[in-house]
Amino acid sequence: MMESYPKAFIFDLDGVITDTSEYHYLAWKKLAAEIGIQIDRDFNEQLKGIGRMESLKRILALDISKEQRTTEEIEELATRKNTHYQELIQSINGSNILPGIEDLLIKVRENNIKIALGSASRNATFVLEQLGLIQYFDYIVNASKVSKGKPDPETFTTAADYFKLPYEACVGIEDATSGVDALNKANMFSVGIGDKTYLAKADYIVSNTSHLDFTEIVKRYKQWKVE
Ligand code: BG6
Ligand code: MG
Repeated sequence: MMESYPKAFIFDLDGVITDTSEYHYLAWKKLAAEIGIQIDRDFNEQLKGIGRMESLKRILALDISKEQRTTEEIEELATRKNTHYQELIQSINGSNILPGIEDLLIKVRENNIKIALGSASRNATFVLEQLGLIQYFDYIVNASKVSKGKPDPETFTTAADYFKLPYEACVGIEDATSGVDALNKANMFSVGIGDKTYLAKADYIVSNTSHLDFTEIVKRYKQWKVE
């Protein structure tokens, strides 16, 4: 059988390349507290990978006062959360890149494999620029390029379509349940980073980014491919 390398790696951003997922959490927690709603880390797991408006809807659904809000008020809350978030990411830089990520990007590049970003965040380009990683990316998919966010596969299939690649030739790297679900629905090889409790459906799981090893990922990908 012909050995086949993956043809593209598609990286999630928040919680994979950098720990901005923590900043999203802190910004939502602050916004929620301002309107009398408490959220915790366990609840936050279901916000990971989910777009701004949908995340806000899930938070507002916790409101025991059941306050009715107009569309304008909801828009204002979403904007306010983004302001909180942008305050937190203003000063991020290369030191905020998670361990092992830049080495992996370099290895993928050396092997002439395409690299894309598959993120729900409208702040994605800013964050990649701040981190000094933008030059590794051949293509960036963010919320403005898709009509359906994760767990719909569109974020990832949009990148593969851009490269004119079959979906099973792509490896996706994710820290969110919604992201792993999206990759699996796209029939891409899903690498999950983090706690098995939330990532059980990933094709390959590592506990943190320092365990991401190009050779090992390719080995697992090949095994998955022949299954
Ligand atoms: C995802 C994050 O990458 O982007 C979510 O995991 C976040 O937590 C979403 O809500 C949208 O981000 P932004 O920056 O457009 O509000
Ligand atoms: Mg993420």
